[in-house]
Amino acid sequence: MTARTIAEDFLMSVCRCFTLIALLVWSVLPNLSQAETIALIGTGDVSRAFGPRFAELGHEVVYGSRTPERDDVREMVQATGGGASAELPADAAAQADIVMLNVPWSVAEEVALGLGDLSGKIVIDPINPRVVGEDGYRDYPTYTSNAERIQNLAPRAFVVKAFNTISADTMIDPDVLGHPVTIPVVGNDAAAKETVIGLAEALGYEAVDVGPVRYAHIVEGLYLLRSNTRDLGGDHFEYHFRRRETAAPQTIQ
Ligand SMILES: NC(=O)c1ccc[n+]([C@@H]2O[C@H](COP(=O)([O-])OP(=O)(O)OC[C@H]3O[C@@H](n4cnc5c(N)ncnc54)[C@H](OP(=O)(O)O)[C@@H]3O)[C@@H](O)[C@H]2O)c1
Repeated sequence: MTARTIAEDFLMSVCRCFTLIALLVWSVLPNLSQAETIALIGTGDVSRAFGPRFAELGHEVVYGSRTPERDDVREMVQATGGGASAELPADAAAQADIVMLNVPWSVAEEVALGLGDLSGKIVIDPINPRVVGEDGYRDYPTYTSNAERIQNLAPRAFVVKAFNTISADTMIDPDVLGHPVTIPVVGNDAAAKETVIGLAEALGYEAVDVGPVRYAHIVEGLYLLRSNTRDLGGDHFEYHFRRRETAAPQTIQ
């Protein structure tokens, strides 16, 4: 073997090593390869819980606040890290691929309208519409769901209902209960749902596609069952759907 061949072989081995290392690094950082800009509209508990977690996954986080210069919003941005920022809601939404609408249900439509053109963007809706009756039970205040209302207002956006069935502590830590937590997801666009399911799984939840957006009223109703039980002195629970390993028997009506 000549000296030149030995040098060529050595060079080839080094190249192979680098390629292998690059592939390994790429494979353990899948989320960074799909980094999105996520606008979290509103600066309450839900944005506070998810902002830092999205940033940890390598996504760019921009909070949408009516007063982005407020001290607590600045602190939130600081605590989020990863180059997070805060803007007025419409400015935050304009630069995002994914917009998460973390505002009270009573202003959801007004806020969504103020965000400008949402065409082509995924809009995650974690909102729980409810009114409290005289007997203390939470009731559903709308005939259609919040998610359908938002989808009707922004027909070219991809509205995905998700994350509304969990509580703030399981948003911060999906393992806090010591058992898996399920996120039921509905929406009309399969690719948008796949993206949101991927996001939910990367955050540590199980996520299940339970149909088009017309089923959002059922997913929103799940919150009422959980909240009525909890707030009227009953047990606290989170939803965990257990997958059947065998097919269910067919029922004949
Ligand atoms: N908290 C939970 O555990 C939980 C769990 C599941 C689902 N959810 C749902 O997630 C949504 C967000 O809940 P949250 O607890 O984070 O906070 P929230 O109390 O509903 O308020 C969130 C933020 O919305 C903005 N906002 C308030 N009033 C507004 C108005 N009139 N117009 C425009 N923006 C307004 C405020 O941000 P700026 O002042 O910065 O603009 C506020 O911090 C709710 O719809 C709730 O049903 C909450």
